[in-house]
Amino acid sequence: MKIKISALLLIVFCVSGCYYDKYNKLYPPVSETTCDSLNVTYSVSVKDIMNNYCIGCHNASTASGGATLDSYSSILPWVQSGQLMGDVKQLSGFISMPPGSKLSDCDIAKLQKWVNDGAPNN
Ligand code: HEC
Repeated sequence: MKIKISALLLIVFCVSGCYYDKYNKLYPPVSETTCDSLNVTYSVSVKDIMNNYCIGCHNASTASGGATLDSYSSILPWVQSGQLMGDVKQLSGFISMPPGSKLSDCDIAKLQKWVNDGAPNN
């Protein structure tokens, strides 16, 4: 009898375990569903990310590492040199930005889309 009960419990756990996995696949957490990395512009998406995570250390009066990132013309050279994407993706050979943390995958995807589009001033 004892064996039967544990076998039954095992089946219940397996089934509910599978159910949970599927549920997460069908209904991913909100952050994953709301990531729009296709409709990306400088004036909204890129500026937003810069304002939230970068401008504190990269504005006209505090240009850490000589980098000002608060306008289109000031960010462009860092895009063209590849440093901006290398830094935020934290690739080896680059300086990880922001220091001590990392942008979300969604924000990195947005920046990458904008760079792939040719970094337009839109
Ligand atoms: C807490 C302050 C701080 C924040 C926030 C910050 N940075 Fe930096 N950043 C620095 C410092 C300090 C340096 C200089 C590092 C060095 O030369 O070793 C630097 C250097 C840079 C450089 C030029 C150096 C290089 O080789 O790439 C770029 C580009 C850069 N940061 C991009 C960013 C971006 C993009 C963000 C936002 C995602 C960001 N930073 C957020 C402090 C910061």
